Amino acid sequence: MVHDFAYGAIGFAKEKPRSFLAEKGAKEVGIELYTLSKTYNMAGWRVAFAAGNAEMIEALNLLQDHLYVSLFPAIQDAAAAALIESQETVQTQNERYRARKDAFFQAAKRIGWNGSVPDGSFFAWMKVPDGYTSSRFARLLLDEAGVAVADGSGFGEFGEGYVRIGLLVSEERLVEAVNRIGNLPIFQKKC
Ligand SMILES: Cc1ncc(COP(=O)(O)O)c(C=O)c1O
Repeated sequence: MVHDFAYGAIGFAKEKPRSFLAEKGAKEVGIELYTLSKTYNMAGWRVAFAAGNAEMIEALNLLQDHLYVSLFPAIQDAAAAALIESQETVQTQNERYRARKDAFFQAAKRIGWNGSVPDGSFFAWMKVPDGYTSSRFARLLLDEAGVAVADGSGFGEFGEGYVRIGLLVSEERLVEAVNRIGNLPIFQKKC
């Protein structure tokens, strides 16, 4: 078992995102991967770690030795600082995503657009109106509202019927995007 815990620090529910390694017996059967991309805004720095089953870590280490060269030391130092020093910024960032999520879903509700409110991560998965595929709807939003979303079908069979919104801009900008979408004739008719 390999558990990807990329969004382990971004959670809005009472219960924190659960680490695989917190489960009994986890270390006997698997490892957890943790990228620093999301928690510390280090996307593109290619820095992450794996923890868990010793044999699997050893195998990973062997592969790493042969497939990669080491990370630039400044990135290693930055990663160490990110992990060791105060985690206050992680909390602040989590609250920022929570505020964006709330603003986005309030605006979506006003235009009658349904989706599932996430308990974690910085994505919103929104329903595609009847008569549209994810791909056609994503295209419509881009062409007619000037809003870029990710076509859900690109994430596998269960993504069809949805588009994915990244809550990666300010609340004002997210609300503006929803308002523009709400002005489309299809939303005037009711989604
Ligand atoms: C679920 C998930 N896992 C892993 C990653 C990989 O992050 P990175 O390649 O930046 O370390 C991402 C990044 O988008 C992600 O969304």
